Amino acid sequence: MTEFNGKTAIVTGSGRGIGRAVAERFAELGANVVITDLDQTGVEKVAAGIGAKAIGVACNVVDAAQIEHLFKRAIAEYGRVDIVVNNAGVTRDGLLVRMKEGDWDTVLDINLKGAFLVSKAAARIMMKQRSGRIVNIASVVGLIGNAGQTNYSASKAGLVGLTMAVAKELASRGVTVNAVAPGFIETDMTAAIPQAARMQLLGKVALGRPGTPQDVADAVVFLASDEASYITGQVLAVDGGLVIS
Ligand code: NAI
Repeated sequence: MTEFNGKTAIVTGSGRGIGRAVAERFAELGANVVITDLDQTGVEKVAAGIGAKAIGVACNVVDAAQIEHLFKRAIAEYGRVDIVVNNAGVTRDGLLVRMKEGDWDTVLDINLKGAFLVSKAAARIMMKQRSGRIVNIASVVGLIGNAGQTNYSASKAGLVGLTMAVAKELASRGVTVNAVAPGFIETDMTAAIPQAARMQLLGKVALGRPGTPQDVADAVVFLASDEASYITGQVLAVDGGLVIS
């Protein structure tokens, strides 16, 4: 038995990578989890791997109607939504002068507007419950910027602002809103980074190793826990010391 028994967590973009690790950790701790990502077959596979306390519901976070369906399914299945993790995210890297407008829009839409739409749906339910936890997956580049990632850095910086504003709006209803800012984490998203750039990036990590999806999951679980009930509007870097190096 843990404090997460009987609680329900929705994790966006949990078909793989960090989101999947977060969802699996909540499930290990006894929570009901809703696996949600773009592909229905993919989310059903991940949910089946977790077992009886998981369902898979496809949802594109830029589509308000699909988000409404996602929350309806969660409530129909489990009766409540206690934890929402805004994890879905993409990159479309390129130097500013060459960046296509479409690549700016895609990244801002998914990473920032998606979190807005999902938080709005979550807030309606959590305000009624007078309890809830929203955890946003930002990035250290939203705090310090990164050449070649103007769109991505702006989206993650925006997510930090959203976190603080929503934290202020929902505090009186017993809902906390925080962000985790991962550094260099080994996932499909970072697998494409060329070896030389990878070594250069690792050189900036004080602890000298890339992070794992589990490193991020542990921080998300903490922010969703009872132990973090007096923490809201914060950004917790999980970066091996990248930001301070
Ligand atoms: P990933 O690419 O492995 O997983 C992202 C997931 O989001 C994928 O399953 C994808 O299908 C899903 N997704 C994309 N667009 C979506 C949409 N419109 N609606 C619903 N789902 C969608 O990436 P990873 O590394 O697991 O990243 C997870 C989060 O962590 C992202 O927000 C990313 O920006 C953030 N992050 C990752 C870091 C890293 O080093 N891997 C560092 C800092 C932040």
